[in-house]
Amino acid sequence: MKRLNSQLQQDGAPLELILLIRTLLAACKEISFRVSQGALAGVLGSTLSENVQGETQKKLDVISNQILKDILSESGYVKAISSEEEEGVVPCSEDGNYLVSFDPLDGSSNTEINSLIGTIFSIAHAPQWMEANDPSAFLQPGTQMVAAGYVLYGPSTMLAMTTGRGTHLYTLDKTHGGFLLTKDNIQVPEQTSEFAINTSNARHWEQPIQDYINDLLAGSDGPRGKDYNMRWVAAMVGDIHRVLCRGGIFMYPFDKRNPEKPGKLRLLYEANPMAFLMEQAGGVASTGEGRIMEVMPTEIHQRVPVIIGSKEEVETCVSKYQ
Ligand code: AHG
Ligand code: MN
Ligand code: MN
Repeated sequence: MKRLNSQLQQDGAPLELILLIRTLLAACKEISFRVSQGALAGVLGSTLSENVQGETQKKLDVISNQILKDILSESGYVKAISSEEEEGVVPCSEDGNYLVSFDPLDGSSNTEINSLIGTIFSIAHAPQWMEANDPSAFLQPGTQMVAAGYVLYGPSTMLAMTTGRGTHLYTLDKTHGGFLLTKDNIQVPEQTSEFAINTSNARHWEQPIQDYINDLLAGSDGPRGKDYNMRWVAAMVGDIHRVLCRGGIFMYPFDKRNPEKPGKLRLLYEANPMAFLMEQAGGVASTGEGRIMEVMPTEIHQRVPVIIGSKEEVETCVSKYQ
């Protein structure tokens, strides 16, 4: 089986980017090990602190963030990082050439039930003019990403990654610690009968998404003329993995609970990397108003509505917004 290194070389990734990705994945392998120890190592449950988004941090949120931060800031490849668990950007090496944004542990409420969780990341060039502690360089649209991916800590530890030449899936071989290519150039089916949305928020949604979901729920008796199935992992990384593997549509739309939070998911380290992976696999990623990867961020923890997945289904959903 092909190793990650060979696939990255085949896709034309520059050497320094390959070295950075390998460094980042070394951190993810350590997180994978810590996650798998679970209650034996006392890593489950919550801390007493909240992150900048006002969410109670799980112990594994803090541990995963620290592992990534330590390894990336010592690597020399990274000028600065932004993380869900850090209020501001973290300056790393003045002469680092890359910026890394990450959600160290996505779906961390699942740690308590031994269910799917993962790490999501995106990588962009650090502009020459940038001071390492300047957050403005992170405010680039997703189209500027040079690589993105996630590591899913499930029954097996898997990596989905793109450097802009297709989306490939790798599986961690824990006997020697390497990521091996297990599916190259994923193609997400354009049609689907499976959707993922947290319907408990339905009363807060805007009209277009209400109308769209009502059509799906009407099944073969409604305008779509077929029955749909629903899945919700409560970890974007798990839901997007399913969509990449067999198609589907995943939504976390704007809702009216808090107008300052347009949706729940964060642009830099959740929506953008997943959008890049999905587009590279032939899928579509929209806010309802436009392409996620073209949103110009105004702050590093910015939230966006997310509608992502099989091409025809996302287009049908987005047509409700026009
Ligand atoms: P995080 O654990 O990094 O804060 O992210 C959780 C996110 C996302 O992964 C998931 O799709 C969503 O929150 C689940 O939201 P609900 O609480 O509405 O199920
Ligand atoms: Mn998350
Ligand atoms: Mn998280």
